[in-house]
Amino acid sequence: MGKYKGKIVGFPGDLLSIITKKYPINNFLETGTNLGDTAEWACNKFNVVYTCEPSGHFYNLALKRLNKYKNCNLYNLDSLSFFNSIMESLLGNSIFWLDSHYNVDELSYGKSVENPLIKEVEYISKLNGDKYIVIDDFRQMLFPDEPTYVHGWPPLYKIINALNLLSDNFVMAVPDCLISLPNKCIPIIRKYRKRIRRFE
Ligand SMILES: C[S@@+](CC[C@H](N)C(=O)[O-])C[C@H]1O[C@@H](n2cnc3c(N)ncnc32)[C@H](O)[C@@H]1O
Repeated sequence: MGKYKGKIVGFPGDLLSIITKKYPINNFLETGTNLGDTAEWACNKFNVVYTCEPSGHFYNLALKRLNKYKNCNLYNLDSLSFFNSIMESLLGNSIFWLDSHYNVDELSYGKSVENPLIKEVEYISKLNGDKYIVIDDFRQMLFPDEPTYVHGWPPLYKIINALNLLSDNFVMAVPDCLISLPNKCIPIIRKYRKRIRRFE
């Protein structure tokens, strides 16, 4: 996820807005808050937002920005500790925006730890209820900056295998994200795909 001319790019917010109108989704969960760009977008759309940032530097910047949103729950934790802290108290359906990775920035967390994506997906697969998962940076999974996976994403086949644990969901890519949505969203995706095709 990034910003271009002040706009969030790479994040399929338009698709999530369409889905949320049809299916009630109470919570937005994000791993890797960074500066809080997407968290702020979500605070204006969802009843409750949970987001985590283990880097003290980015946590403090995000805290200043997101403090005014009463529905925002920001944690200074890595994603797996964050999941352990909140999952039991989660009510209703949730969107998971998985974006916790080292950001080629000394102040970013994660340079010397394993990318947590597979464990995050395995964790989510065990939860009850509908799961709407959006994973950022699909292009990096196809053509990584770091082909040995040391600081980057796990191999794509491992990510897909983990997503296949969610048997009631289907998996596809929307431009720079890998998504796993409940099968009932297939008609929405068909319409969305047609709309995107008009701009291709
Ligand atoms: C690309 S940025 C996130 C951008 C943000 N999600 C957005 O949409 O605006 C990635 C962030 O993940 C954080 N991070 C790295 N490893 C993490 C982990 N294990 N758990 C949670 N966050 C992590 C980094 O410190 C960095 O701030």
